[in-house]
Amino acid sequence: MKKRVGILTAGGDCPGLNATIRGAAKAMYQRMGNEVEIVGVRNGFAGLITGDYMEMDEPDFSNLLTRGGTILGTQRTPFKMMTVVEADGVDKVDRMVTNYKSMGLDALLCLGGNGTHKTAHLLSEQGLNIVGLPKTIDNDIWGTDVTFGFHTAVDIATEVIDRIHTTASSHHRVMVIELMGNKAGWLTLYSGIAGGADIILIPEMPYRIENVIEAIEKRNENGKSFSIIAVAEGCYDMDEAKMKRKEWMAKRVECGCVHISERLAGELETRTGFETRVVVPGHMQRGGTPSAYDRLLATEFGTYAAQLVENDQYGVTVALKNNLVVSNPLSEVAGKTKLVTEDCDLINVARRMGISLG
Ligand code: F6P
Repeated sequence: MKKRVGILTAGGDCPGLNATIRGAAKAMYQRMGNEVEIVGVRNGFAGLITGDYMEMDEPDFSNLLTRGGTILGTQRTPFKMMTVVEADGVDKVDRMVTNYKSMGLDALLCLGGNGTHKTAHLLSEQGLNIVGLPKTIDNDIWGTDVTFGFHTAVDIATEVIDRIHTTASSHHRVMVIELMGNKAGWLTLYSGIAGGADIILIPEMPYRIENVIEAIEKRNENGKSFSIIAVAEGCYDMDEAKMKRKEWMAKRVECGCVHISERLAGELETRTGFETRVVVPGHMQRGGTPSAYDRLLATEFGTYAAQLVENDQYGVTVALKNNLVVSNPLSEVAGKTKLVTEDCDLINVARRMGISLG
């Protein structure tokens, strides 16, 4: 029996989205031939709400392996607003269910991060046939060892740290590199170790400024006149850790230092006397072509999703566990975040290397 399969990409873009779409589509055509029709839903759940979609054909899925971003477009449609009827009077959940049906879909692949997985689960509970695919440079989706997009971002962030070494050492400076990651510090931890950062600060481990200063001064005493700090954008210190996020954000606004890197740099320059500079690579970390690792992972995940559709296995998301591609129930994944734990391997590696974790 013919299957009509929708694909959407939601949340922030990242390298590997197109490669995953390509993997899923090619494998579906391969396995189901003329028995499959593919529909591209534009701009994530926003397109499902408004019924904005396009019919797609085999040639549409060529030349996508190396292409960054997403050919389907994406948008952030916050999960917490999904069940809220706003001023426009639109019942978003009802619209998504109705449009899924009016598009004639038998299944929908939802490529996205944590927010996407929550909405995917909600739709699955409404009786839609959903398969999730885990993308994010944050690597924080529960139940998978890795998400696609993460390793490309690690490569980019590592190159930033590598390149900063020359200016740091030539000018005898402290360089604060702010990397993406609001709740999860995986990207900062991986690239910090790979790039040889001296101090790594992540949101899961609030820092003490005294410990950061001590690490810089100790390096100086040992003849290292520069220091590189890799800090995740969502970091806060021990004092802030005692407050609610809203409270410490308000305090930061008051001091005119909203961003962690500016805040750190200002304090460190004043207290250590070292000239300090800030580098924020920002969305460059999400840009451009996926690495070979991510192309492989995206292709593995995409082809596995095609198999799930062929076998009518829904209400799940694709994952990598101990080097095997598997699926996890959306009900187990939605609403959970995979954070760095203090006893994880790479934290131990950092400690053994004498890297300060603040
Ligand atoms: O979730 C991916 C991510 O890049 C986070 O690391 C970052 O905090 C956020 O998205 C930035 O979002 P936006 O692109 O909407 O500014």
